[in-house]
Amino acid sequence: MTYADHTTTASDAPLVSLSSIGLTYGQLPILQNINLDIRASDFMSITGPSGSGKSTLLGILGLLERPTSGRHWMAGQDVWSLRDDAQSQLRGSALGFVFQQFHLLPELSALENVARPLRFAPRSGASDRDRAAAMLERVGLADRRHHRPAQLSGGEQQRVAIARALVRQPKLLLADEPTGNLPQSMWTEVLDLFGRLNADGAAVVVVTHDPMVAAHARRHISLRDGQLTSDSFT
Ligand SMILES: Nc1ncnc2c1ncn2[C@@H]1O[C@H](COP(=O)(O)OP(=O)(O)OP(=O)(O)O)[C@@H](O)[C@H]1O
Ligand SMILES: [Mg+2]
Repeated sequence: MTYADHTTTASDAPLVSLSSIGLTYGQLPILQNINLDIRASDFMSITGPSGSGKSTLLGILGLLERPTSGRHWMAGQDVWSLRDDAQSQLRGSALGFVFQQFHLLPELSALENVARPLRFAPRSGASDRDRAAAMLERVGLADRRHHRPAQLSGGEQQRVAIARALVRQPKLLLADEPTGNLPQSMWTEVLDLFGRLNADGAAVVVVTHDPMVAAHARRHISLRDGQLTSDSFT
């Protein structure tokens, strides 16, 4: 199914649905009673004070953290009732992550880092290297493809991480402070890239402290003390 098919056939059904989600570490409540539907058309920002649970919520949306209560559906499936392999499959095929720490593999070149998620993808027409190279070009790093992470600046490493997150065309892109290590001159470029992915039918969720970054989104939620305190559209 292509992206265009996804947007036209998914109608208004949410891509992700969180119902009464809670997460506690020991006795400590980190997230409480989160009810949230995310649609393929959403470009959403998550803001809130440090420690309010933003990264934890992103971890749940990315199937990296298991909530301690509530229900979590994705693409119509109850994700925590899926077998491990089906869950990994969903994670690999539908989700893209951009972390604040880039988590690039140090021994691989930029190109190899971007191509890596494709090793688990179904075959496509273009070779993995060609797809990865095209993605690196989109983030302006065509000429750095053979550099290793240690030979790249922080901003360049972040762009490699973004290219890697986008190379499998995720249905849901999750980004935690994606501009945190980038010079401000690059923010618009990165956010435009997210905007294009969203226009192609993927949901984008960006955790940010910066109002200018949040302004690129069209839906805005905020957290305080592990609870959803607002949900609005612009
Ligand atoms: N593994 C863990 N064990 C115990 N507590 C944790 C764990 N991970 C996070 N927390 C706590 O959960 C709360 C929410 O953390 P989280 O990282 O989601 O906040 P955040 O909103 O992303 O903050 P920041 O803006 O600083 O990144 C914090 O109080 C944190 O101390
Ligand atoms: Mg955080």
